[in-house]
Amino acid sequence: MIVLGVESSCDETGLALYDTEQGLLAHALHSQVEMHAEYGGVVPELASRDHIRRVLPLTESVLKTANKTLQDIDAIAYTQGPGLSGALLVGTSFAESLAFSLQIPTINVHHLEGHLLAPLLEANPPAFPFVALLVSGGHSQLMRVDGIGEYELLGDTLDDAAGEAFDKTAKLLGLGYPGGPALSKLAQSGNPRFKLPRPLLNSGDLNFSFSGLKTAVLTLVNQHQPLDATTTADIAWEFQEAVTEILTLKCMTALRETGLDNLVVSGGVSANSKLREKLNAATKRKLCKVSYPRLEFCTDNGAMIAFAGAMRLKAMHGNGNKNYGFSVRPRWDLAELQKPTI
Ligand code: KG4
Ligand code: ZN
Repeated sequence: MIVLGVESSCDETGLALYDTEQGLLAHALHSQVEMHAEYGGVVPELASRDHIRRVLPLTESVLKTANKTLQDIDAIAYTQGPGLSGALLVGTSFAESLAFSLQIPTINVHHLEGHLLAPLLEANPPAFPFVALLVSGGHSQLMRVDGIGEYELLGDTLDDAAGEAFDKTAKLLGLGYPGGPALSKLAQSGNPRFKLPRPLLNSGDLNFSFSGLKTAVLTLVNQHQPLDATTTADIAWEFQEAVTEILTLKCMTALRETGLDNLVVSGGVSANSKLREKLNAATKRKLCKVSYPRLEFCTDNGAMIAFAGAMRLKAMHGNGNKNYGFSVRPRWDLAELQKPTI
């Protein structure tokens, strides 16, 4: 079965074709980062309008790359939520209309399920059950994953998500938007000089809290005005050290508490090389396996949506939705998802 995947939940339009026999056939992405950069964040209305402009050319592009036609598509998977409602509406209405015209089924995918399963697109995919760390711009969650749709929340952030903390701290350091990759790059030239707190490191549970860290950075920034390049890099180094240390320790605690030896890390922050370095070392010490998506699939993309949709469709023996009505779910709790059944 060939599934077309459509992602439009935020500021990236992603399209992909996934074949349940042959794997990923093609994927294409348009990032709106440059368009939103001058506003310092995503402008929802501009995001929706840009998705409209991109969705058809990107569909044509993946079909061309895979040497397929519309008639070769067996089903269409799309992100129904969570995300920006106007942006979600573009992908959702496009997917349902195209599926109606082709009379093929649709699969409405949860964006975070897409992220969560993205590492399974790689060679030697991890087997269920595993512990998943999902660290994106909007989420920082630890889950026990027993199969598609079988997610048990083990820990969550009490305030800012890890990616959000990277972005807000980068802004305080004058690094622009989106700040995560820029801060991480700058941290490479920094040195250990400052000491920031490690919120909830020894809280005894698997929850996170990152907003205090950002406030501590603000205090440092105010104490060192005007900020010189060395100080900025040293603050970035310590911030990244604090976040990655907390994430690593909580992952190892989750593995110990669940008795599992398989860790999967996904979402935008899983691209962070310091985090990967720490997790690789810690899991190796405990003889556990850790898996990540390839770098381009850490952030939003269509491949993860095509893949999650294909997994659900397979579990439902090809029986997706065929009513072609649609609605979006800007707020949608991952815990509401269920194991797909026919
Ligand atoms: O998963 P994603 O594309 O979007 C959401 O679904 O939220 O993640 C985007 C987030 C942003 O906060 C971005 O700053 C962060 O991931 N990010 C990083 C890195 N690359 C992206 N944070 C730290 N280090 C990176 N290398
Ligand atoms: Zn995302």
